[in-house]
Amino acid sequence: MTERKTSHPSSVVVLDHPLVQHKLTRLRQKETSTAGFRRLTRELSLLMAYEATRDLPLETVEIETPLEWTHGHLLSGKKLCLVSILRAGNGILDGMLDLVPAARVGHIGLFRDPATLEPVEYYMKLPEDIGERVCIVVDPMLATGHSAAAAIDRLKHAGARQLVFVCLLAAPEGVAFLSKAHPDVKIVTCSIDRELDDHGYIRPGLGDAGDRLFGTK
Ligand code: URA
Repeated sequence: MTERKTSHPSSVVVLDHPLVQHKLTRLRQKETSTAGFRRLTRELSLLMAYEATRDLPLETVEIETPLEWTHGHLLSGKKLCLVSILRAGNGILDGMLDLVPAARVGHIGLFRDPATLEPVEYYMKLPEDIGERVCIVVDPMLATGHSAAAAIDRLKHAGARQLVFVCLLAAPEGVAFLSKAHPDVKIVTCSIDRELDDHGYIRPGLGDAGDRLFGTK
């Protein structure tokens, strides 16, 4: 697959492949059904996983085809861990697991304390060998960037060393916050939208990704 992508400073990759942009536009439309939203998210997740896994190390192996011996390349090492930021991150897991079915999966749940506004962890379950894996952290919306940065703080504390953050949409404010907090973490997204509004929604955006994925509104 030949891929066009736009690079931004601080390791941000915006996928401007025509298929990605077409599916993203359908996803944004308010008349898209819950089933359609899930299907499009799954398809976009697979395409984002393609980019997020670009730097995985390979090893050379000797194999036999029906005709002769040759050399090929396989992923080396312990490979991947996908980490979903609950709950909307779960919508991205399915498409990614289609592409990398052997990946381990972790989950992190955070809510914002109404008094301190700090993210508070209510759930975290990660594979034990997370330090030996490339971690792809998924959340459809990078809005303020606070939960993403807090999740990555916790993953680093648990031993993760190589991390990529993947989202469908990002606000410029979220990209700035996350890039400053974790400059070593590459961000892969389908779009950096115009702005974050006063209610924390990305504009023009796609609305509440969790509600649209799970049909809860
Ligand atoms: N979370 C969402 O689901 N949508 C936004 O626009 C921002 C955060």
